[in-house]
Amino acid sequence: MRSIKVNLDKKVLSSYEIRIGKDIIDRMALIIAKNHKAGRYVVIADNCVGSLYGQKLLSSLKDVGLNVHVIEFPAGEASKNINTVLDIAEKLLKLEADRETCLIALGGGVVGDIVGFVASIFMRCVPYIQIPTTLIAQVDSSIGGKTGVDLPHGKNLLGTFYQPCAVFADLSFLETLPEKEFNNGLAEIIKYGAIDDEKMFHTLENHMDAIKLKDPKYLLGLVENCCQIKKSIVEIDEKEQGLRRILNFGHTLGHALETISQYTITHGEGVALGMIAAARLSEKMGYLEGNETKRIEALILSAGLPGKIPKSFAGDSIIPLLRMDKKKKGDIIHFVLLKKIGMPFIGGNIEPKLITTVIEEMKK
Ligand SMILES: NC(=O)c1ccc[n+]([C@@H]2O[C@H](COP(=O)([O-])OP(=O)(O)OC[C@H]3O[C@@H](n4cnc5c(N)ncnc54)[C@H](O)[C@@H]3O)[C@@H](O)[C@H]2O)c1
Repeated sequence: MRSIKVNLDKKVLSSYEIRIGKDIIDRMALIIAKNHKAGRYVVIADNCVGSLYGQKLLSSLKDVGLNVHVIEFPAGEASKNINTVLDIAEKLLKLEADRETCLIALGGGVVGDIVGFVASIFMRCVPYIQIPTTLIAQVDSSIGGKTGVDLPHGKNLLGTFYQPCAVFADLSFLETLPEKEFNNGLAEIIKYGAIDDEKMFHTLENHMDAIKLKDPKYLLGLVENCCQIKKSIVEIDEKEQGLRRILNFGHTLGHALETISQYTITHGEGVALGMIAAARLSEKMGYLEGNETKRIEALILSAGLPGKIPKSFAGDSIIPLLRMDKKKKGDIIHFVLLKKIGMPFIGGNIEPKLITTVIEEMKK
């Protein structure tokens, strides 16, 4: 099992370990019992992950003498809303949860984001542990303390920054992950390569077939590398005042496409399309060489992710959604752009017309 420490400002209070390994559920339970003592633990999962792994985790935690309960909610982005938060809060009250209770998010990014949000507001905050079970959650959403739910107007518009007290990424969960969900995680891995690690980008280009077969020889290193990149960025800029914004490469348009499709376009697919759009914008604005744009597009397609925006999406209906982006400053739409692979910057003042042109080109 490998371990990465995230050191935050309020060092003693907020720092935590990300532990990465394979078949580590029993060791997780021992570490939770020893390092994260609580009066009771409530595992919160969606119904899909709950039926796959809920009992196994529950038994491991009970075996080490912990008082554990489970709450489930329906799987999918459609559950990431305030009603699910209220429903979980009511169930917690029925279980007589109090400030001595520790929540455990067992699942993908949706579960992690919702449980982190509940933990940040229930009884004015209780601790929580992330046990990510999708590739997206293992390389990205479980780390860094961004929590939240969606509003009908857009993604993640209600939320908090609230760090978990531990993260356990067990690669064995990925064995049951459907290919489409695995590919979604590859989108975030490609993002890390594009914004921070040209060498990893190269590894992805050269070994995508083995990676898609979940070959642990590559997977463990990739997950660890992405966690290292994210933790380094979050340590410098926990609340997304500056540097952390580069992690949103592909997300400005990605979130808008997710919203407009009513989440039939998944997060990973939205990010994939958003990265292609951001690369093309970078090229059109004279920053990125054409061959680098092509490398990004080719890698995204080789990961089994989409490269085309559905024809039915009107470019001018997407622009107002970009203005809902939390990262905007005033009326100016910001995109994370690239000067080259591994060298991002925040581009402001981008002509909406140029964005519409790129969107229209991506429909062909
Ligand atoms: N907080 C952050 O920093 C951050 C970063 C990236 C993404 N996100 C959020 O994460 C969400 C997307 O994450 P996601 O793709 O993990 O979504 P998800 O949690 O909905 O998981 C996707 C699907 O996979 C299923 N699943 C999960 N683990 C499984 C397993 N091991 N085996 C089989 N099926 C499994 C789930 O039940 C669900 O149906 C979005 O809401 C996005 O906004 C947050």
